[in-house]
Amino acid sequence: MLAMTIKCHNTLALLIFIISLSFYENDVAKGDNLGASFIFGDSLVDAGNNNYLSTLSKANSPPNGIDFKASGGNPTGRFTNGRTISDIVGEELGVPNFAPPYLAPNATGKVILNGVNYASGGAGILNATGSLFVNRLGMDIQVDYFNITRKQIDKLLGSANAREYIMNKSMFSITIGSNDFLNNYLIPLLSTGTRVSESPDAFINDMISHLRAQLTRLYEMDGRRFVVANVGPIGCIPYERSINQLKENDCDDLADNLATQYNAQLKDLLSQLNDNLHGATFVLANVYDLVSEIISNYAKYGFRTASTACCGDGGEYAGIIPCGPISTLCSDRYKHVFWDPYHPSEATNIILAKQLVDGDKTYVSPINLRQLRDL
Ligand SMILES: *[C@@H]1O[C@H](CO)[C@@H](O)[C@H](O)[C@H]1NC(C)=O
Ligand SMILES: *[C@@H]1O[C@H](CO)[C@@H](O)[C@H](O)[C@H]1NC(C)=O
Ligand SMILES: *[C@@H]1O[C@H](CO)[C@@H](O)[C@H](O)[C@H]1NC(C)=O
Ligand SMILES: *[C@@H]1O[C@H](CO)[C@@H](O)[C@H](O)[C@H]1NC(C)=O
Repeated sequence: MLAMTIKCHNTLALLIFIISLSFYENDVAKGDNLGASFIFGDSLVDAGNNNYLSTLSKANSPPNGIDFKASGGNPTGRFTNGRTISDIVGEELGVPNFAPPYLAPNATGKVILNGVNYASGGAGILNATGSLFVNRLGMDIQVDYFNITRKQIDKLLGSANAREYIMNKSMFSITIGSNDFLNNYLIPLLSTGTRVSESPDAFINDMISHLRAQLTRLYEMDGRRFVVANVGPIGCIPYERSINQLKENDCDDLADNLATQYNAQLKDLLSQLNDNLHGATFVLANVYDLVSEIISNYAKYGFRTASTACCGDGGEYAGIIPCGPISTLCSDRYKHVFWDPYHPSEATNIILAKQLVDGDKTYVSPINLRQLRDL
């Protein structure tokens, strides 16, 4: 009896070993599929982490997610009507499923081998950013959480295989920085008064030095293939156009200039990291120019408006009150560049993602994401 139990036990262990081995081989050996996608950032790529926080930054109510097929149109915590840029990039590169939010109860076991999403609405590079939302996972904390995932992957694959899997089959995407302006520097009374005491130069230097440390920590944990998005034209979002009562085609210069100034320094940072961190590739996703191009020539891309939010209320551009169950909702969701006062629609995310995956150096450099995967 005892012997049989032991035998059973061994057979089971062997079976589990074979299953996990074949899982590992399937996913590691497939040449042209990305193994894992580790996603860091803010509400542009949050896939539901904030559902698990008590925070004012939430998107788990309809009509958010109305076009998200995987949930049957129910809200998931994504701040858009459908898929985020990271969802679409993952699909294009052959990741088998959308990376689950780190805080979701089912983000455990072998699921994490296809990636995890740490992004959180309201998050910034700086710890103080987004404090008006009460709770959010800032970038330092997101990197701390990856450190926990990293150890779990060691347990699942063994440390040598884990290291190779992270280095050669995993992509790290970082979409952060907008909130450091929108929900920190540009609202001095609610932040710690940074704008009063700090020049734009000093504030941006602070952001860059924190981001350098965060990216270096990911490298120390074996990250090698990185894509880092710059900050988009935040002066053109329906929120900024509405509160500043701008004319149809105008954007807020103060916000756009801060983004431009940060973006120039980010570009330098990434080329320094490419030179200094051996074996790593940092790709710059030039979201600023790409979104600006779509906004300037929106009709060419099939949109009816680049100024008015599809879901939202207030001001000239439905840009004051966030999207929720009682919001005014447009009837042509695929003809709006912006879903809500802050975030692009799925239609826009599709254009952005395709450019990042297969586009040329205008928008993604030094190589595109398909080339990054295939390095
Ligand atoms: C995790 O749970 C969510 C919500 O129940 C579900 O939509 C998702 O498909 C699950 N993900 C995985 C990888 O099991
Ligand atoms: C940010 O907060 C995290 C977690 O509370 C902490 O570990 C980290 O040291 C903080 N970073 C800075 C620069 O204060
Ligand atoms: C994995 O990547 C490392 C560093 O980028 C490289 O030296 C190594 O040859 C790669 N291994 C395989 C099996 O491709
Ligand atoms: C990861 O966590 C361990 C503690 O468990 C710590 O010693 C190490 O410095 C951390 N690594 C990074 C890169 O943060």
